[in-house]
Amino acid sequence: MASFRGSSFFQQKGVAGFTHRAFTKSMGFDDQDMQRPVIGICNTFSEVNNCHRHFRELCEAVKRGVWQAGGFPLEFPTISLGEIYLSPSSMLYRNLAAMDTEEMIRGQPLDGVVLLVNCDKSIAAALMGMASADLPAIVLSGGPMLNGHYRDEILGACTDCRRLTTEYQVGTLDQATYQEIENGIVRSAGHCMVMGTASTLNSICEALGISLPGNGAIPAVDSRRLRLAEAAGRQIVTLARNNIRPSQIINLEAFENAITLLCAVGGSTNAFIHLSALAGRLNINLPLKLFDEISRRTPLIASLRPAGKYQMEDLFYAGGIPAVIKELLPLLHGECPTVTGLTLAENVKNAHVTDRSIIFSIEEPIQPEGGLSVLWGNLAPDGAVIKHAAATPKLLQHSGRAVVFKNMADLNDRINNPDLDVTDEDILVLQNVGPIGAPGMPEVGNFPIPGKLLSHGVRDMVRISDARMSGTAFGTIVLHVAPESAIGGPLAMVHNGDQIELDFKNRRIELHVSEEELIIRRMHWQAPEPHFDRGYGRLYLEHVLQAPEGCDFDFLRGKSPVQIEDQPKF
Ligand code: FES
Repeated sequence: MASFRGSSFFQQKGVAGFTHRAFTKSMGFDDQDMQRPVIGICNTFSEVNNCHRHFRELCEAVKRGVWQAGGFPLEFPTISLGEIYLSPSSMLYRNLAAMDTEEMIRGQPLDGVVLLVNCDKSIAAALMGMASADLPAIVLSGGPMLNGHYRDEILGACTDCRRLTTEYQVGTLDQATYQEIENGIVRSAGHCMVMGTASTLNSICEALGISLPGNGAIPAVDSRRLRLAEAAGRQIVTLARNNIRPSQIINLEAFENAITLLCAVGGSTNAFIHLSALAGRLNINLPLKLFDEISRRTPLIASLRPAGKYQMEDLFYAGGIPAVIKELLPLLHGECPTVTGLTLAENVKNAHVTDRSIIFSIEEPIQPEGGLSVLWGNLAPDGAVIKHAAATPKLLQHSGRAVVFKNMADLNDRINNPDLDVTDEDILVLQNVGPIGAPGMPEVGNFPIPGKLLSHGVRDMVRISDARMSGTAFGTIVLHVAPESAIGGPLAMVHNGDQIELDFKNRRIELHVSEEELIIRRMHWQAPEPHFDRGYGRLYLEHVLQAPEGCDFDFLRGKSPVQIEDQPKF
């Protein structure tokens, strides 16, 4: 049984204990409350984050659970990262939110914490901060939105946002229909309901063992989500009493389980980055090669958009993530511990698949390999990523002439120019959109097809960049090229007209330019001007790591576990 950091804070002698108790009593709590384990509820509610808008009710449910189990719940806010609202990219602020989360866990007199998350980067930031503070913790997602609807058609945010906007732009969808779709695509609270980044990470939390079963797919507005929150409140008290910390749960085998699930559900490429960053916090080596090895041996068994047909609400009715995990057990480390106190395999003992058109078996999968892969070659010496499950199959083996855009501004200026020298056989290259170059590695890897080709029915081309891509997007997109162009990676040396070869079968991405020519180009290359000279932006530019290290800050890798003697003094 652990000694409680929270109750010893309240029991300190002298003026320190006096003030700790007196000021806490001002909120209506009494001495009995202050003898219980203190459970922080890290609430990322924000009105500038639609995905978190139901968190007040969810937080109340967690508090009920904490009280029921004999704990003392105290809610606190941290930075909320709303994917739709942040500029220039929510990814720029992920590490800032992770620092906030870590330091607020460490700085306050807590014995355990429930982290309420939902929108993409808020999940990653919470996981990273939680891992570095290493206090007993449970991650609780707010859950996915209900399916979008337009008449009898099911819609998905934001896979259909992009697809239908393209149709509207080329004139195959009229204004009235486009507006009606806009009114019905985002129907409820919750995160995007296709297998995008939020769905991926919230599902992965179950495989990591850091969330209760059901975390990934129970819809945000389903009352079972509230009961899950209450259960998380009860369970965190048990973890706090026994001082069970994230580092005792999230080990290398748990990461392998997470990557296996990622590949089996055709999850977001962004998980490569966030899992790498999380592993860095726990001093676990997670090379890109491991992602590729696991993808090759893991069948795709869940039919989820953008790689498949269905969405998170459908997945929930089909058995949810526990049913997917149960199917995958022969490929998983089922003995891994989880926050329930049971193993991963024990957690899913009673799960079952109710719809085989959504969750397939590993014996008869949708496809024999996972949906994500790592590419290597002279264009990406430190690796690049492709979601081949969401690509056009015939483009996966393709050579073409490079059409290069120097940055986003250049792309926006020229992509719809009717005089742009481009054919559908070409390969589009976008430079300077990586962690430093953009900055913040935005989700622009699925940048638009040139307007003149769109109007001729072209909907996909090979596109290469050092950016990321939304998990909701699709296409033959090569991402996360490392090292990035802004620090002189080979991507910066590509010129218009160069030949590039995507050889997916052999996991290669090659620039067919002689070594001598590349040396000359490198001599003439100039780094772009830095985007910031002060503030958080400057800190970011000076310390952000490249994609294979998860774009974490160099000084944030590793952990400094919270100790009992860390308690604040007055
Ligand atoms: Fe939050 Fe899509 S906008 S998950």
